[in-house]
Amino acid sequence: MIGDCRKIPYSESMPTQPDLFSRVSAAVAFVRTRTAVVPRVGILLGSGLGAFAEQVEEAEVLAYASLPHFPQATVEGHAGNLVFGRIAGVPVAVMQGRVHAYEGYTMAEVTFPARLLGLLGCETLIVTNAAGGIDPELRPGQLVVLSDHINLTGRNAAAGANEPRFGLHGFPAPRFFDMSAAYSPRLRKLAIAEAAAQGYALPEGVYLAVLGPSFETPAEIRAFRTLGADLVGMSTVHEVIVARHMGLEVLGLSLVTNAAAGVSAEAIDHEDVMDVGRQVEGRFGALLTGVLRRLA
Ligand code: HPA
Repeated sequence: MIGDCRKIPYSESMPTQPDLFSRVSAAVAFVRTRTAVVPRVGILLGSGLGAFAEQVEEAEVLAYASLPHFPQATVEGHAGNLVFGRIAGVPVAVMQGRVHAYEGYTMAEVTFPARLLGLLGCETLIVTNAAGGIDPELRPGQLVVLSDHINLTGRNAAAGANEPRFGLHGFPAPRFFDMSAAYSPRLRKLAIAEAAAQGYALPEGVYLAVLGPSFETPAEIRAFRTLGADLVGMSTVHEVIVARHMGLEVLGLSLVTNAAAGVSAEAIDHEDVMDVGRQVEGRFGALLTGVLRRLA
């Protein structure tokens, strides 16, 4: 009954919450009490790719649930662990499982892990994801290095009051920031060289992000191809935007898990997405490890 509802002003009905920088800083302080590892490279693992975290040497595992203010992952296939240690001698922090905007999380929640990795000291962020192949040449199981993105999620994670303290090495994070080389040309070359050394070609591609959770319609995929997209997915762009806001160097890797809608006759199934991840686990892990060795 509407008449029974007490009218509470919005500001009073919301529990007060510290600002985002304070929340991320509290998570940093907590992490510091649990591990002495100061990561140089942060790695965000996408759907079906979480097994890579097992390659971390001398691993120290922090469950997301133990981290103050940290959003909890809900999607199947996302373990929800932050793993510290070394890979190929490089101190790393690996996020096994991400949260997505389609789960109902705010932009601050979706990008909390990337912000945390930045404030923990990472200078490089490696973002990985499962994606649909818009380019018909991209078959399931294919790895692609991202050259750029198109953000059609309708949101930008850097919107809101600017927080200069998120900048790397004490540089103020800017209100406006360049995205013309968001995916580091240096790291793209390095990944392509590593794949070649492992005996295969790693193509570059443009990733287009949608909100989800519905997969796309064939008409949308035709439109996205016209826009210049090679891959489609529901993640990554928000984390890349905040990483660039902080001044981190970014490498993006996609695993093509399916042909995008209408590109092949088959329907798209989340189970298939996870299966392809498991099948390609070995090659994906070897590429990431090789890239880290080159960064050492
Ligand atoms: N569309 C959107 N996201 C995806 C897809 C897709 O086809 N495959 C894996 N993630």
